[in-house]
Amino acid sequence: MNQEAPQLDKLETAKENFINLLSELNDTQLHAFQEFVQEAIEKYHEEIHGQQHSDDIDTAEDMDVEQHDGSFQPVSDAKMMRLGRIIKDLRTKVPLSAEAPGEKTAIPQTPEFEGYTDQNTVHVDGFLFSEEDVDELCAEGKMSRNYCLDCNSKNTAPLNFISHSASVIQLQFLYQVALADKAKDKVIVDIGSRLGAVLYTGHLFTRARKLIGVEINEWFCKLQQDIIKKFKMDDRVSVLCKDIQTIPELISQEADIIIMNNVFQFFNELPVQQQIWKFIRNETKKKPGLLIVTLPSLQEQLREAGLSASKLLRGWVKEVKLTYDAGWFQEIHEDELEEIKQVHLYKVL
Ligand SMILES: C[S@@+](CC[C@H](N)C(=O)[O-])C[C@H]1O[C@@H](n2cnc3c(N)ncnc32)[C@H](O)[C@@H]1O
Repeated sequence: MNQEAPQLDKLETAKENFINLLSELNDTQLHAFQEFVQEAIEKYHEEIHGQQHSDDIDTAEDMDVEQHDGSFQPVSDAKMMRLGRIIKDLRTKVPLSAEAPGEKTAIPQTPEFEGYTDQNTVHVDGFLFSEEDVDELCAEGKMSRNYCLDCNSKNTAPLNFISHSASVIQLQFLYQVALADKAKDKVIVDIGSRLGAVLYTGHLFTRARKLIGVEINEWFCKLQQDIIKKFKMDDRVSVLCKDIQTIPELISQEADIIIMNNVFQFFNELPVQQQIWKFIRNETKKKPGLLIVTLPSLQEQLREAGLSASKLLRGWVKEVKLTYDAGWFQEIHEDELEEIKQVHLYKVL
């Protein structure tokens, strides 16, 4: 008796059902479903085989890897206090959500943000407010961690928090560990510089020759220019109010290091995100040795943009593997450790 026949039937039925499912979805749902399927298959293999089986995951097989050298760059208390003054000043200049007037952002339709809606999601800037600051704001009644499901009742649910800036601990890790001995005399470009968090900390924590922010939103450009002037950082820091796609030479010629903290996802439609990522790949590829810092990993960002990470990463970059839990900072909380794990470093091949 042919044992394989029923199995083949099952496979064909599964394929047919799958295609039928796909045909019922619109473009946005299809994208979210694709993400779901990829993740579900990875998880399934992890559970069954104790290993990951995907084309698009962060493993050494996907790309060349080298180990970070473990250097560490200390930062004085005086510099941290100066940073504190910049943050305090910024808080007086932006609304609590740290959004620009009239700014439009869209919650991505990906599994990571499943269930996030405009009603249950708040924008809290991770550079301006730490978790402890948020607790204080809640105690003062200026913010809440929960929302009421049916008014006047105790039936509440936790709100989702989204930050569009890197947090201070992420920036410390980025400059003190990831780029510790690599920033001196270099030109650092922060693509999508927003409040300027990466630029101000770069000025305080490194001896980079130039720190250039590129920001498409005019209101944020003006804000950064005011802070740069007020805190006398214009000797090395500047901001270009442009779409990064209009200044390819900044990437392919001027930059030694580029930093991208989830720049495109909330701010551009999916096809535009894909176009920008291909642009970034093309321009950075013209400069072998260029360092790229991303939050979160490039693999994750490309995947979230609906692109094949393994295909795009091949022949583009190698990852410089960072050690996150080497006790770099005293009294680091578990959630802060999770935050610094978002920081990834790559070198263009
Ligand atoms: C998540 S924020 C990054 C903030 C900052 N780099 C940090 O880490 O604190 C992304 C910023 O990129 C800007 N942006 C999005 N698309 C851009 C583009 N094509 N060119 C320049 N800026 C862009 C957005 O306006 C937004 O302010």
